Amino acid sequence: MTNITDSPSPFTARAQASRALSGSVRAPGDKSMSHRALILGAMADGMTEITGLLEGADILSTAEAMRGFGASVIRQGDGGWHVVGRGANGFVSPQTEIDCGNAGTGVRLIMGAAAGYALKAKFIGDASLSRRPMARVLTPLTEMGVKMQATSGDKLPIILSSDGRLSAIDYTPPQASAQVKSCILLAGLNTDGVTIVREPHLTRDHTENMLAAFGVKVERRKMGPGQVVSLKGPARLRATRVDVPGDPSSAAFPIIAALITPGSDVIIENVMMNPTRTGLFEVLTEMGAFLRADNFRRSGGEIVADIHVKHSRLHGVVVPPENAASMIDEYPILAVAASTATGQTVMNGISELRVKESDRIAATVAMLAENGVEVIERQDGMTVTGQGLHGPAPKGGAQVVTHHDHRIAMSALVLGLITQNPVCIDDASMIATSFPGFFDLMRELGANIATDTPS
Ligand code: S3P
Repeated sequence: MTNITDSPSPFTARAQASRALSGSVRAPGDKSMSHRALILGAMADGMTEITGLLEGADILSTAEAMRGFGASVIRQGDGGWHVVGRGANGFVSPQTEIDCGNAGTGVRLIMGAAAGYALKAKFIGDASLSRRPMARVLTPLTEMGVKMQATSGDKLPIILSSDGRLSAIDYTPPQASAQVKSCILLAGLNTDGVTIVREPHLTRDHTENMLAAFGVKVERRKMGPGQVVSLKGPARLRATRVDVPGDPSSAAFPIIAALITPGSDVIIENVMMNPTRTGLFEVLTEMGAFLRADNFRRSGGEIVADIHVKHSRLHGVVVPPENAASMIDEYPILAVAASTATGQTVMNGISELRVKESDRIAATVAMLAENGVEVIERQDGMTVTGQGLHGPAPKGGAQVVTHHDHRIAMSALVLGLITQNPVCIDDASMIATSFPGFFDLMRELGANIATDTPS
């Protein structure tokens, strides 16, 4: 028996030069909010009703994990889920391993949530997750009084044991990370004191917003470009209704596909516009993109809008380190947009990309270089030189190694829509972790993308 979980069967995919993309499609549910809705629902008293949940593999792993800790998690149909939380009874020790699949957010948040209860649990994940650093959560959780036992260094599998009596901490994470912040806040709910996280740079704030919706008092104070966030334990969560809006990180793929494919005119509906997530849209606008947000409204406590995007003449820009937190998952697809821009796009201060589902700087650079795009790799960044609308399109023709990383896979396929020769990827199966409807949605817009199995 192995501790590394089985992945879905791999299959290849291929994209080639497409006609203009057109139409109006709906963005899939936000991955960050979907994890949090299930976890907070499982911790709460009563039944949480969720709509718009992303039914990607990462989220299904979190749903299963919450069942393992004793919550009842039931799918009602198409994005509609009910979670009956453990409330005052608290999480129980799971009978089997907690398998978080490919999900860094899942494992780090669930460890924080579980830490506050008297239990023992073994966390495992797939090959990609088993390579990712966990010290960033093991350090604060250990400081709070949890026993964390890793088999090798700080990697999964990890056994967490807690007596449920944690100490509140005042912690400054060394890296800008919403996962670390959220892990500590969730553990802080079951302490006897005030847990404080000091973020030098503000990261996505869905945990703070959603905790407030579950009736927890979360204090936030601005600190330069960051914030000090705190909550007082013990705190009880009250079940609520969560409407999950569309994921701006997933919407980025059809948006950039439309921006770079000549003649395109597309609307992506229901995109969350939380300012901690919209860094990419600001950079694209600076690059000259036609990108218009219409029909602003509120959903699930967040602002959402429909994004109208047209094929655009882009120019290179410098993306400074301060932008990283608000677009951390969007650099691979931004690099694809940059490969059609005039001149250089310089991306700095993004060393965190090296510890995502893959080393995303190395994987993006390889993907572009093998397809004929001029690109330079640095330890904490990359520079892409594009030929502009009137220069030759990138050659394409490569078989891209995705390293089991959904965002590298989707970025490579979007690049293939404008290259001289088709772009293939070695495996497309993991796209379902965050964007299970990717192929159907892209084809609906007219993208020329094929898979080697029906999808
Ligand atoms: C996430 C935080 C980010 C992001 C990830 C989702 C979250 O990770 O890359 O896809 O939901 O909290 P880090 O916290 O490691 O930056």
